[in-house]
Amino acid sequence: MQHEVELITLAPDLDHCPDSELPEMAFSGRSNVGKSSLLNLLVGRRRVAHTSGQPGKTRALSYYLVDQSWHLVDMPGYGYARTSQAERRRWAGASRAYLSTRSQLRGVFQLIDLKVGVTPDDRARLRDLLRFHRNFCIIFTKADKVPPTKREEKVVEHLSGLGLPATTGVIVSSAQNRLGREEIWAWVEDHLSPQSTENPPDAGD
Ligand code: GTP
Ligand code: MG
Repeated sequence: MQHEVELITLAPDLDHCPDSELPEMAFSGRSNVGKSSLLNLLVGRRRVAHTSGQPGKTRALSYYLVDQSWHLVDMPGYGYARTSQAERRRWAGASRAYLSTRSQLRGVFQLIDLKVGVTPDDRARLRDLLRFHRNFCIIFTKADKVPPTKREEKVVEHLSGLGLPATTGVIVSSAQNRLGREEIWAWVEDHLSPQSTENPPDAGD
């Protein structure tokens, strides 16, 4: 099924995010992990969000209005080696400000490449999500690059040692094979309305 989706704005920082009470969901992850591709899969359109073989393309909090009712936010990717130090620091600051204070944000999809695994930057982002008491779900991306019989093993290996709450959602996806779409939609629908956080103040500290 296709959804109505429209790019609303590219916000360089929290102050430029839309002045709207609509709930929002964010895609977070390192550069090249497949955020924009998954966003396109989710809304059923090939080229809504710009994807590229060139990492570091998404350089803003990209706001998409979905079905006239909520915002999907494609966050700038972190960890791209060729981005300047100053630029990285600026994006890290903008992303943390967004994740720590944006009250419209109801849930975050934290993308991790199934083949590459958890990077130090991913760990730092996960620590932030716990610290800021955000509801989040892990999406392992590019599953098509790992043989089906090895996927479960990889998931268990990557999750071990992260110390995540047992209730954390985990979805295996592939934009190429259109895998994980229904589960992502189900998570969105479960978390769009305001509710108590799954990661209350003492869980992550
Ligand atoms: P930034 O905007 O730089 O943060 O990257 P991104 O996380 O938005 O990644 P993007 O969606 O642009 O994808 C990066 C590259 O990975 C592109 O060449 C995509 O075609 C490729 N890619 C994305 N998803 C998949 C997937 O499920 N399987 C495979 N094999 N390749 C994928
Ligand atoms: Mg992108």
